[in-house]
Amino acid sequence: MNILIISLSKISKAFLKNLPKNFEGTIDVFSPNSTIEGFRCFNYYKNLSKEYDYVFLGCKPQHIQDVAENLPKTCYNKGTIFISVLAGITIGKITKLFGVEKIIRVMPSLAFEFGDSYLGMFAKNCTNEEVQFVCEMFKPNTVIQCKNEQEIDEFTALYGSGIGFIFEVMDAFFESSKTFLEETSKREIIVNLLQNAALYMKENKDISFMEAVNNVASKGGTTEAGLNEFKKNNQLKEIINNAMQAALKRAREIAKS
Ligand SMILES: NC(=O)c1ccc[n+]([C@@H]2O[C@H](COP(=O)([O-])OP(=O)(O)OC[C@H]3O[C@@H](n4cnc5c(N)ncnc54)[C@H](OP(=O)(O)O)[C@@H]3O)[C@@H](O)[C@H]2O)c1
Repeated sequence: MNILIISLSKISKAFLKNLPKNFEGTIDVFSPNSTIEGFRCFNYYKNLSKEYDYVFLGCKPQHIQDVAENLPKTCYNKGTIFISVLAGITIGKITKLFGVEKIIRVMPSLAFEFGDSYLGMFAKNCTNEEVQFVCEMFKPNTVIQCKNEQEIDEFTALYGSGIGFIFEVMDAFFESSKTFLEETSKREIIVNLLQNAALYMKENKDISFMEAVNNVASKGGTTEAGLNEFKKNNQLKEIINNAMQAALKRAREIAKS
């Protein structure tokens, strides 16, 4: 099994780091400027001479055209499976650029670096065995099969981009608690706050997010006073909804460009 990784991006490095130890296959890496220990690395397309069974597209969406123009056609054939993590780049676009048909779109989040990400996946023209093989490559992350590309874009808005929205919320907490604690402990307290909110929801699978809110807000108490501000004109839900819609719209614009 020959695999070619395109671009030593953060996502590609995480993919290589998490590959199962018993993974059987040869992995080559192309990246314009970088190399990584333990793999055969190429900085020039002209030095790629193998034909690959899998091509992992780990570059940025804006580089895909350049990759398609320069990756030697001898590196792949009609049977080669292209795995793409590129946000917003459709299967139709990859087919058009490379002339290939077997394509698997995968959408990770930053947590992919820790091997603890959900991955939205949508495969076209691949057999169940081929999809299964690719899922194995992504372990220990958890693959969610999407029904179509629209679902991948929605998954991107919720999960791929969502982590950035959570960081923004964390920063808002940081900025709003100006008057106490030195900066490092404040940072740790906010991280702990998010960790424990997530842990609570993990440990109490039978309660909804809204029930959890009500569980911590006693009548007439401090949390309820703060929550009343969140609820004014439904502002928070509107901001989050607008952010998700904007991310979705951007994914569709990238797909069309
Ligand atoms: N980061 C995330 O959390 C995340 C989440 C979901 C999906 N994704 C997707 O993952 C992909 C990679 O994102 P990233 O943030 O991991 O990228 P990144 O770390 O910023 O890396 C970008 C890479 O692009 C390479 N590059 C530069 N010019 C190139 C060219 N002309 N042709 C080919 N490669 C070129 C660079 O290689 P050199 O080092 O050799 O210069 C660099 O390794 C994106 O398509 C993104 O949509 C990322």
